[in-house]
Parts: sequence; structure tokens; C-alpha cells
Amino acid sequence: MLSQRVQNIEDSITLTITAIAATMKKEGKDVIGFGAGEPDFDTPEHIKSAGITAIQSGKNKYTPTAGVIELRQAIADYLLRDQGLAYAPSDILVSCGAKHSIYNMVLALVEPGDEVIIPAPYWVSYPDQVTLAGGTSVFIETNEAQGFKITPAQLEAVITPRTKLLILNSPSNPTGMIYTRAELEALGAVISKTDMVVISDEIYEKLIYGADEHVSLATLSPQLFNQTIVVNGVSKSHAMTGWRIGYAAGRKDIIQAAGKIQSHSTSNPAAASQWAAVEALNGSQAELEMMNKEFVKRRDFMVKTLMEIKGVTCLTPPGAFYTFPNISAYFGKTTPAGTTIHNSVDFCNALLTEALVACVPGSGFGTEGHIRLSYATSMAVIEKGLERLKTWVNSLT
Ligand SMILES: Cc1ncc(COP(=O)(O)O)c(C=O)c1O
Repeated sequence: MLSQRVQNIEDSITLTITAIAATMKKEGKDVIGFGAGEPDFDTPEHIKSAGITAIQSGKNKYTPTAGVIELRQAIADYLLRDQGLAYAPSDILVSCGAKHSIYNMVLALVEPGDEVIIPAPYWVSYPDQVTLAGGTSVFIETNEAQGFKITPAQLEAVITPRTKLLILNSPSNPTGMIYTRAELEALGAVISKTDMVVISDEIYEKLIYGADEHVSLATLSPQLFNQTIVVNGVSKSHAMTGWRIGYAAGRKDIIQAAGKIQSHSTSNPAAASQWAAVEALNGSQAELEMMNKEFVKRRDFMVKTLMEIKGVTCLTPPGAFYTFPNISAYFGKTTPAGTTIHNSVDFCNALLTEALVACVPGSGFGTEGHIRLSYATSMAVIEKGLERLKTWVNSLT
């Protein structure tokens, strides 16, 4: 009865874990959630007001499919101001979150038989979106030793005549790693020799905590500008996950093709959300600084505490709001309830049921041996959750 298409894909593991943790909480269990992929801060007041004003002033009708011109202009201004990327509003498609932006691009570009290169660990939705489009995901494995970043040689090795797309994500979910300019230039040299398109998922670009700079592949040369679709949005940067505004900027023909798909699926993203996003991009950015200051404190505490747990290693992520510690030293061990841990799913399931701490297994991101913890939650919750994690891990035999 169900299509083969839908049978080929999985539920998003992050949303599943978040839902299980929420159900346990509703049942009265004191669950600590490290699963969430969204800031715990509320949307800044001036942005909420812009959305409310839009509704009250009657901006409640369909808008152009690609988004109101004011928003596309605000995005174009932002990309020029912050990244030196020059796009016309007609090169920009606003969609219902960056997830939707990426899906539109994948549907517009990928057909059965096409290969899409995805560095692992990857954000959970990429492979399933490729599967829905009938394409084949080609993964490039990375590890802690290489900072979870692919090398030009690795990229070169997987390129075939069927390669259509590469999906790059920096800063990364789940590792928080960031490609440097030099690393991107080296990858760019390989990409430039092909006609592949790159989706550059830059949704965490405002969440960088140290001296690292965000570099978009699209800025590196006119050819790479043409080959790259920049995807970004306000969900993570402005604590607006529920408003559902993301966007893609790139070659007009691809943007228009994706717009055609959007015109027959969702049409425009919610009008009030679009006006709120105009304010997010054009208005005060003061709250971003406050949020980032808080994130960096939590990150430092989380990494330090994880590193104190015997057998656990954890890189310091320069961006996003996740840590991705290696817990593989505990594979083969048994929990107090008698479960033997074979992999990261066993680890996370047992941790949730026995210690009431929700984390996401690394295998969901294509990299076994790790778990993902989000620090987009209060310091008090982080302290309590890590204490439980530590005690439980120390009880494994
Ligand atoms: C790497 C990455 N890309 C895209 C998205 C989607 O963002 P949005 O909420 O705007 O759809 C997420 C959200 O978790 C993400 O982690």
C-alpha cells in the first residue's frame, strides 16, 4: 500500500529521540534531554513583534512562492554584508526551513542513478532526502584524528561520471567542526575540475565561538560561486526553529527549478514568519552575541566534563551547539540492568532507560562509536545530565 519511496527512508533519529524523551517526561520521569537540535532561548522580542505586527496589519495572504521581495532583499543584503556574496533577490528562494531548502535542491537536481557525495558524520536528513529523490548517497568516512573533515584525496577518490552533488556542512551538525579557508580551497580545487553542484549548508554559520572564521565555498572563485548553492536560515542563529524560514541562494536556473517544485508543494512559507525573518536579518543582532556567550560557556564545561570521564575522548567543537564524544571504549561492557552495549544505539537506549539521559547515537549520523550531545540547554541541566552520565558510565562493567 505504501510507496516504495517512503519505505526506503527512516524516521529522523534526532526527532525520534526527542519525542521519546518528551513522552517519558510527560509520564513524570525526570529525563534530561541532550537530544535537541534547537536553541533553548526564545525568539528575540523585536522579531516576535515583527511577526505579530505582520499578522495585525493584514499580511495574511499568499506571498510570491519564493518569498516576499523585502525578505529576499534582506537575505541578499545580509549575504553581501556578512560574506561578500553578491546575489540578486531573484537568485534566492525562501522555503519552510533550511531542511526544505535542501530538499527542494535535491529534488531539482538529482535523478535515479545520480550519486550524491556526503561526508560522514552527516546531518541525518541528507541521505534520506537523496533516497526520496531516487539518488544514491556516497559517503566519505572521517574520524576524530582528521577532525571529522574530508581531505581532497578522499573527495577525488569517490568522484565518478555519475556524481551530481556534494553536500558540505560547515559548521557541522553533529561534530561542530569548521573547514578553514585553506581546507576549502583545497577541496575547491578538486570540485572545480568537475561540473558537480555543491550544496553548502551554512545554517550554523553564526554559531562560531573562537577565532575560526566562517568561509563559504561560494566566495572562493567565480567558478565555485556558480557551482555552489548556499543554504542558510534563521532557525538556529535567531532561535526561530518553529517559524520555519530557510533559504537557498545560487544559480538562477537551479533556484527557479527548485521554486517550481515549491510552487506545487508548499507554496510560500508562512507570511508572518517571512516578516519576522526580515526583522531578524535587518534588526538588532544584540541577542546573538548574548546567546553565543552562553553557548561557549556551556560548550567549555561540557567538553571538560566529558574528557574527565574515563575512556571518553571529545574534540572541542569550534561551532554549532553539539559535542560528539567517542564512547567506543564502553562497547562490550554491561550496564547495571544487564544490557551488553554493542554500539552507540545500545549505549543511548540504555542511558535513556537506566539513567534518564537522552543523547543521539552516532550511527544515526553515519559514524559509529560516538554519541551527540546538544548543549542548547541550560547550564543547570547540563551539569545534572553530565553528572548522571558520568555515574552511569562508571557503573558499566
Ligand atoms: C545541518 C543542518 N542543516 C539544516 C537544518 C534544518 O534547519 P531548519 O530548522 O531551518 O529546517 C538543521 C537542523 O537541525 C541542521 O542541523
